[in-house]
Amino acid sequence: MRILVTGASGVIGRNLIPLLVKDGHVVGGMVKSAASERIVAEMQAEPFVVDAFLQEDVDHMFQVFQPDVVIHQITALRQWNTFDNAHVRIEGTKNIVDAAKRVHVKRIVAQSISWAYEAGDAPATEDTALDLSAAEPRKTTIDGIVSLEQKVTEIPEYVILRNGALYGPGTWYAADGSIADKVRKREMTATDGVTSFVHVQDAVNAIMLALDWESGIFNIVDDMPVPGNVWIPAYAKLIGADEPAILQGRSGIERGASNAKARRLGWSPVFPTWEDGFKDMLLK
Ligand SMILES: NC(=O)c1ccc[n+]([C@@H]2O[C@H](COP(=O)([O-])OP(=O)(O)OC[C@H]3O[C@@H](n4cnc5c(N)ncnc54)[C@H](OP(=O)(O)O)[C@@H]3O)[C@@H](O)[C@H]2O)c1
Repeated sequence: MRILVTGASGVIGRNLIPLLVKDGHVVGGMVKSAASERIVAEMQAEPFVVDAFLQEDVDHMFQVFQPDVVIHQITALRQWNTFDNAHVRIEGTKNIVDAAKRVHVKRIVAQSISWAYEAGDAPATEDTALDLSAAEPRKTTIDGIVSLEQKVTEIPEYVILRNGALYGPGTWYAADGSIADKVRKREMTATDGVTSFVHVQDAVNAIMLALDWESGIFNIVDDMPVPGNVWIPAYAKLIGADEPAILQGRSGIERGASNAKARRLGWSPVFPTWEDGFKDMLLK
């Protein structure tokens, strides 16, 4: 198939494109900056340096490449700016989906998040409502996700993958990443708040399977939602940092998510627990 990967130089794109190429797909890779063009070319994909905010340029890319499938992985998180990220999720996705429709793209696989659900005690399933009444700053993130998820349903076949907190080489959680930095500076307080994690490799494997999945929404998270007062001390130990401050209590939105639906379709994480995955990331 002809597959266009947006966000091709991001942490997911860099791990995904070699697998698509190996499987014989003709891959186009959309990036924003000229500096990232080489990353795409080195993976044997055709680079497109296009800003998602520029509708005409996005249209032109689709007219030239004529993809069958779009794998939409743009985020704007390198500076950890949730406003920029929501903005590109809303406006960038709109431009990409509108352009995709004009060349009759039949399927889109899009990246979303698994921590946008309303408050509750159990891990959220895909049937749990999103947290639509959230106040700022969370509202910005929720609005971005809601808009992205609605927009991609305009493509005949759509798969929305709600990833857990993404860790692995090249992410914030790697030894040289910003979470490691915060934990070393004891800027992260460990509470009862629950997180569901997913390793980059498992997020990428889910995308590969999703090329054949029915339309719908799937949580892509590991098997073990974990409270901060468990994972942060363990993580601190692995990176040789001091013990974090520990506090009791959690916000209801810190509930983790269930992967039962994706597992039913055959996705099986290589790293079913954050514990194994963190060791693999930090001790290898
Ligand atoms: N679920 C999660 O927890 C989650 C998900 C994603 C990322 N993250 C975290 O965020 C960190 C940074 O993510 P990342 O490495 O994927 O980088 P990123 O800065 O979020 O960029 C991702 C991709 O989107 C492209 N892009 C951004 N804005 C664009 C625009 N306006 N038009 C076209 N393309 C655009 C980038 O192209 P350029 O290279 O040209 O800028 C890049 O290919 C990760 O390491 C990870 O820790 C977490």
